Amino acid sequence: MYHFKIASFLMVVSIVLAACQPLSPVATAVPVATQVSAANSAAASSAAPKVVNFPCSPNCKYSDLVIGFLQTGSESGWRLANSLSFKESAQQLGINLKFYDSQGDLAKQVAGFHKFNQDPEVNIIVLEPLSVTGWDDSLKEAKAAGKLVILSDRRIDGLEDMYVTFIGADFLEEGRKAGTEMCNLLEGSEKRNVWELVGTVDAAPAIDRGKGFREKADQCGIVITNSQTANFGIIQGKQVTEAWLGKSKDVQGIFAQNDDMGLGAIDALKDADLAPGKDIKIVSVDATAGGFQAMLEGTLNVSVECNPLLAPQVYEAALKAANGVEQPKLIPSQEGVFYAVDPNLKEILAGRKY
Ligand code: AHR
Repeated sequence: MYHFKIASFLMVVSIVLAACQPLSPVATAVPVATQVSAANSAAASSAAPKVVNFPCSPNCKYSDLVIGFLQTGSESGWRLANSLSFKESAQQLGINLKFYDSQGDLAKQVAGFHKFNQDPEVNIIVLEPLSVTGWDDSLKEAKAAGKLVILSDRRIDGLEDMYVTFIGADFLEEGRKAGTEMCNLLEGSEKRNVWELVGTVDAAPAIDRGKGFREKADQCGIVITNSQTANFGIIQGKQVTEAWLGKSKDVQGIFAQNDDMGLGAIDALKDADLAPGKDIKIVSVDATAGGFQAMLEGTLNVSVECNPLLAPQVYEAALKAANGVEQPKLIPSQEGVFYAVDPNLKEILAGRKY
């Protein structure tokens, strides 16, 4: 009897409780796992960075963009063409461009990044990084401030989740192309001593072009007997080559990681009564007007192209990002190779913007 009373009591309680449940099946259908992940995502979103505030999205126009642009400096002809591309295209498209010149100084570039993170007007930051490392704090700060970041020209190490996309050249491939060309130029040569003028230390083009060049050079008996930074500059390119020439003239080729350093080397070789392009083969990267001119004069043998006119691609990506369009992590630029022996070189140069 006692058991019957308890059983009846429990039955009544369960009927009452069941009656108290809402009729909607959703309330009972929420699985524990979903609840846990919902809790996790609630925690995650409270820790997540602020979403960038584009009230115009998904219909933003170029005129809605305020872009903070972090240039490396003005070390080369390539860089000047690159800066011009960003300034001119911004004007044409009606973008408000805030241009920051880091003057070749990484500390200044980091400070400029911070400035843009603090600037309430800036909604997109475009970084052309002086170094592959050192960006964790700047990118975290940008995310927290709701800024979208696009890498232009140069990659950085890792941190893929912290930027929208990287638009630029495949420097490794440029180095491989340069290596292949130097192998071809030195093909019948008894000795294959090559000097390498390196770009800015810790910058992606310096690291990757050097690596790509070696991949090919190692396969054809090239020995790199000198390798030193000349910071992508014409004057430093000349100075470094002069210093090497003061020690030895046993060199058959020079790989300059950009045209300007190659032009500096050409000057130094001429001053030492050597014939650049003939006695000593020269391969460089960029294919700027200066490089083309040297090829037309026969002092530079080959220039591997690196396209500085990145602004249209970068601005298009920025607009898409503002409108919430997802994009690939890497958008490559188009590049070719140009030769001193090309009979159409003059016409090609006439059709180029840099
Ligand atoms: O990042 C691109 C490199 O930077 C160019 O090859 C060089 O000329 C420049 O200054």
